[in-house]
Amino acid sequence: MHMDSAESAPGRLGAVLAAPRSGVVALGPHGPWLVTTPGQARAVLTDPDRFDFPGDVSRSGDLSASRGDTRSGHVVFAPLDRDQVASGLAVFDEEWPAALTEHDRRTPGTPYDAMVLLRRPVARATTAAVLTGAPDAQRHAVADLVLAWIDALAPVIAARRPPGRWSRARRREREARLALEDTLAETPALPGTPAEAAAVLAAGIQVPIAAGAWLLAHLAQHPLGAGEAVHAVWETLRLTPPTWVTARITTREVDLDGQVVPSGAVVLVSPLLLGRLPDLVPGDVDGLPGFDPGRWRDDTRRPGAWLPFGAGPHACPGRNLGLALLTHLAEWAAVRHISLADHVGIDQSRGLSPLPCRFRVAERTEPPP
Ligand code: HEM
Repeated sequence: MHMDSAESAPGRLGAVLAAPRSGVVALGPHGPWLVTTPGQARAVLTDPDRFDFPGDVSRSGDLSASRGDTRSGHVVFAPLDRDQVASGLAVFDEEWPAALTEHDRRTPGTPYDAMVLLRRPVARATTAAVLTGAPDAQRHAVADLVLAWIDALAPVIAARRPPGRWSRARRREREARLALEDTLAETPALPGTPAEAAAVLAAGIQVPIAAGAWLLAHLAQHPLGAGEAVHAVWETLRLTPPTWVTARITTREVDLDGQVVPSGAVVLVSPLLLGRLPDLVPGDVDGLPGFDPGRWRDDTRRPGAWLPFGAGPHACPGRNLGLALLTHLAEWAAVRHISLADHVGIDQSRGLSPLPCRFRVAERTEPPP
């Protein structure tokens, strides 16, 4: 069993990785434009006056060169604090073994599916971190409603063209979102409006599910042994960052290192591409596409310089929780034998996720190497 590598992926991912890394590159006759240096990536993400956030967040992974609406004036989310991260992690610590046990009870002997198994633990963990004041029953209800909204959003995001307002996909998505917002409206001490809280929860659940599944897929192929769990997390976020590309819209004509990009154009920043630049990653250049947590023992490079959590005003406010959940999962995997039960493919329909990602677990009897 093995997994597909991003290096040989077709489609948009392949196009981004194959683009010349010479600065700003137009991927089509009228864009979108891809920046390929860390400096340009930072410039784009940290200057919202010139590079605005796309308006329709449900389709921000859309790489078509369409002129997007912008959503200037969008609220900036405060990073989760230490207590919030601790409550999220405590919930994950309970829910992850519970999910495994539940699977074994219902379908004994069958492989686990990481993208399914991680849903409830991650949803409840993030909900606990974001809605600290709410009672358990309400948080659990919210976690289920966020998952239902994420599922209803999938066909909207995956569609080649934006589905019409009254299409079945949009109607379902709207119903799921309103059901979530109605429940959030009754939640005590909600951070922001129900719509804002819904957006935070969805972002904070869908992405870490994919990240956790990638982590397990990589660790099944490359057991960690005595390596550091957090290094495996950074390596996962380097090779397969779930938010592998993010878009901004130019508000005026801009000059990026001599390349003129017109107003209203889509500019892409790709953590997946940046994570393969030798300047940002320690180790042998030829080995860069390979999963090697040990490379991070070399502390001359800062993990995360390829921006898997973004940068600037829209940088990820849940970064610390994401890292904590993933490190916990890597520690769990490190003392077990994880093996893939199926070939792992790369799904590009919404960010990057491993699909399917089925695995088996055996308790380890011998000490780690
Ligand atoms: C490993 C896990 C995670 C990864 C890799 C990740 C990655 C990212 C990235 C790259 C962005 C920026 C997108 C852009 O610039 O367009 C982002 C934004 C965001 N993330 Fe995360 N994230 C993770 C976990 C979380 C968690 C646990 C939360 C929980 C609160 C969260 C909430 C958000 C929100 C609300 C935004 C939008 C920020 C804004 O638009 O102002 N994320 N995330």
